[in-house]
Amino acid sequence: MSFDDESSANHSSNPQINEIIEARLQDPVRRGLFKGAVASAALTFVGTTTNTLAADAAPRTPAKRPAKLGFKAVAKSLADVVSVPEGYTASVLFRLGDPMTANVPAYKNDGTDPAASFASRAGDHHDGMQFFGIGADGRYGSSSSARGLLVLNHEAITPSFLHPAGVTATGSGSAQVRTAPEEVLREFYVHGVSVVEVERNGNGNWRYKQDSVFNRRIHTLTEMALTGPAAGTAPMATKYSPSGTHTRGTVNNCANGYTPWGTYLTCEENWVNYFRRIAAGDDPKRSAREVASLKRYGVAGTGRELWATVTPDTPDNLYGRWNAEASGASAVDDYRNAPNTYGWVVEIDPFDPHSMPRKRTALGRFAHEGAWPARARAGQPLVWYSGDDSRNEYIYKYVSNAKWDPADAKRGLAAGDKYLDAGRLYAAKFNADGNGEWLELKFGSATINANTAGYAFADQADVLVNARLAADAAGATRMDRPEWGAVDHLTGAVYMTLTNNNAAMRPVGATDAANPRHYNDARTNGTAQRGNPNGHIIRWLETKNDPAAITFKWDIYLFGARAGSDPENINISGLTAENDFSCPDGLWFSPATNVCWIETDDGAYTDVTNCMLLAALPGSVGDGGADAVKIITNTDEKGGTRQVRTLVGAAPGDRLRRFLVGPAQCEITGVAESPDGKALFVNIQHPGEDTKTADIGNPSVWPSHWPDGGMARPRSATIVITRNDGGVIGV
Ligand code: FEO
Ligand code: CA
Ligand code: CA
Ligand code: CA
Repeated sequence: MSFDDESSANHSSNPQINEIIEARLQDPVRRGLFKGAVASAALTFVGTTTNTLAADAAPRTPAKRPAKLGFKAVAKSLADVVSVPEGYTASVLFRLGDPMTANVPAYKNDGTDPAASFASRAGDHHDGMQFFGIGADGRYGSSSSARGLLVLNHEAITPSFLHPAGVTATGSGSAQVRTAPEEVLREFYVHGVSVVEVERNGNGNWRYKQDSVFNRRIHTLTEMALTGPAAGTAPMATKYSPSGTHTRGTVNNCANGYTPWGTYLTCEENWVNYFRRIAAGDDPKRSAREVASLKRYGVAGTGRELWATVTPDTPDNLYGRWNAEASGASAVDDYRNAPNTYGWVVEIDPFDPHSMPRKRTALGRFAHEGAWPARARAGQPLVWYSGDDSRNEYIYKYVSNAKWDPADAKRGLAAGDKYLDAGRLYAAKFNADGNGEWLELKFGSATINANTAGYAFADQADVLVNARLAADAAGATRMDRPEWGAVDHLTGAVYMTLTNNNAAMRPVGATDAANPRHYNDARTNGTAQRGNPNGHIIRWLETKNDPAAITFKWDIYLFGARAGSDPENINISGLTAENDFSCPDGLWFSPATNVCWIETDDGAYTDVTNCMLLAALPGSVGDGGADAVKIITNTDEKGGTRQVRTLVGAAPGDRLRRFLVGPAQCEITGVAESPDGKALFVNIQHPGEDTKTADIGNPSVWPSHWPDGGMARPRSATIVITRNDGGVIGV
């Protein structure tokens, strides 16, 4: 059955949500575990009147950065709690499984909640997030701080804790198959996006509204339109949508973005891992161009959750659609092209619960970490930055053809059609002298054309579907795993985390000015970690501060490192016990305070501390002044050395402080704020993720029981952080 067949609108094979029994409405606000003391702190905010705003006054980004951070740094910790500074409170707001309609019962959290109920429950692995104020008219109103829609991604799952006793499967290797379709259906639902209404009561406490008409789950079964240049082209045709105009679902939604018209952008990151394609059998059935594309994107393997292995399949191929092998007579008889319908930026209108999400192909296809907007300026193109989160992949920029008209601010997805479906896509090249260039990925250019070595491009749609191959051909700079980006509202500088790289992917001889370090970050037990295991944050300023410019200047804002490590070649930013960190990932500038928030997804420094959230007050590109040029001496395991010249910003000093440390084995990701800056929302992803399947029956040995405590299964959750004196966060 295909999308183009009108009768397919109802997936009759899916269990219906109305099977769910009625249950009493429970207060969804639950306090979490936190360590902050309740002593009040003096207001230390400088340079703005934001902290005196009435609840619904229109906040404006202050014209200055605060002179200093207004809290005492939190210590590194391996405890299974959320630690926040004195004077702050962290409360749990929205956890895996929490019900999102009035008639869905509370989550039992023992693996027995019916799969279909997850269509109306919070998903797993909370990730990128945005707060949209709800105005008095029930529409997008960016000034509203007491009531809003929190829109957040659910990137992936911890299967051990989703089902009664872990995943049910038989066989091994490429012959392993899932034998409990109910479990797979549950997994389909817990990926994707939540739109959930949140509100602050008179006491300043937050809760999510279980029965809000805005609440919505978008998941791997949700129908989506493909839009932009690649929509309706041959590489997008599947049995589901022979015309190539639609696809089902979104998956591995990592970071995010937003638009000036109040819509949410969710980004498809490691989607490739979900598809089954045993290359040895499938490659001979494919054209040379198809094989080149599949290989470049890594579409090969059993599929990380083995979704394609469920038998029997449903008439609408609920499971078989995750098999990307050529099995039918042509592409419209199977799902060989399904991977081409993933890897996009997806626009969602959170204020229209019935709207169909749109996959915007003009922004290119890769492992999209997120899509971060430059400051919108009337009469100028709109710009979004994007990173491709894999080792040695690229940084991208999209520039709309249409010029921004603020009258479009209330047009929802129709505005998306105007600004996100036609534009220019670029990849970044970082030159050794501190200059940079945006290389346009344009069919017919000198490097991207029908004669490109290794892959003959067909047209611009093909360039977008195969953006990685186009960026290879253009000669962009391979980076140390681009994660989140953020644009500084104050200076216009663009920051991007490069979370880490390893010695295999960037050997000492492949270090360059923008990815300059290669060293051994030895763990406390002596285990070597070589390459750039702690990551760094690069930043750039576009020429004339014009987001659409094609040249820029860059430097490195921060290097992750252990305090006390070699200050010349490793701890170049001079980090101390108050601010040392590893593997920067989430990144966000608060419009209310101009504080830069940095989150970690670390596996290197985890012998000493759980993942964390830091607050920073950066300067801008070039603030390293006369000390900006650094010569780093890199060493590899064989004693080989190489000197690399790079450009470094001013050391952060105490303008970088650790604000939060999360529970055991979590990642800190997703950050949003009420527009008045008085509530900070943060996601705690996958606490206890390394729990062994063999230990599922023995809760006393689990590394985490956060947030519910006792012997409860751990759950990903959104927390909300407030100041005990009601003040603005962080300053
Ligand atoms: Fe899903 Fe790039 O982290
Ligand atoms: Ca991430
Ligand atoms: Ca990461
Ligand atoms: Ca993660």
